[in-house]
Amino acid sequence: MPSPTRLLAFAASNSRNSINKQLVTHAATVLKSEINQDTEITILDLNDFEMPIYSIDREQESGIPEAAHTFFKTIGDADALLISYAAHNGTYTVAYKNIFDWCSRIDSKVFQSKPMVIMSASPGQGGGASVLKIAEDSAGYYGAEVRGSMSVGSFTKTFNTETGELADVELATTLRSQLAKLF
Ligand SMILES: Cc1cc2nc3c(=O)[nH]c(=O)nc-3n(C[C@H](O)[C@H](O)[C@H](O)COP(=O)(O)O)c2cc1C
Repeated sequence: MPSPTRLLAFAASNSRNSINKQLVTHAATVLKSEINQDTEITILDLNDFEMPIYSIDREQESGIPEAAHTFFKTIGDADALLISYAAHNGTYTVAYKNIFDWCSRIDSKVFQSKPMVIMSASPGQGGGASVLKIAEDSAGYYGAEVRGSMSVGSFTKTFNTETGELADVELATTLRSQLAKLF
């Protein structure tokens, strides 16, 4: 029997009620139920990878934290990635960037040639477009193969938090078309 496709999904946020976690969880569910039923979903929480703020001095004194090795290996073990980026002042959250910086000291190709779909959700109309652009423009340097992307603005209107699904019909169609590019 062929082994299932291992999908690793996470929000690049450490917020307990992260809207990006809600979006990425919904996307992973849609992927499994409508696109590839033979998908095994793992959803990470960045809070499980909290580490000291990266500094070259810390690295030289104490090495790379075990949590960074675990995060890096978890990416390596996946067949595909789904990431939804929270926007803090137009760029990555500190929580994500810290994990990313530590992992980049293991290997700059943090994404290890994995295909991925990237997303961003924001309460405002912009839909985190700036952080999504940063992630997309730089992906190649870090070994990512971005197959699709989408941004979801006005989250409280476009996403139904009770059902955990996109309420906006156009965005729901876009989600499916972007996810279909993953495999
Ligand atoms: C420090 C800070 C900076 C923010 N900067 C932006 C921003 O630049 N653009 C934006 O659309 N939203 C911004 N927001 C609002 C976030 O998009 C909002 O908090 C969102 O819920 C974050 O995603 P999360 O819930 O997945 O953590 C900011 C929020 C915080 C706390």
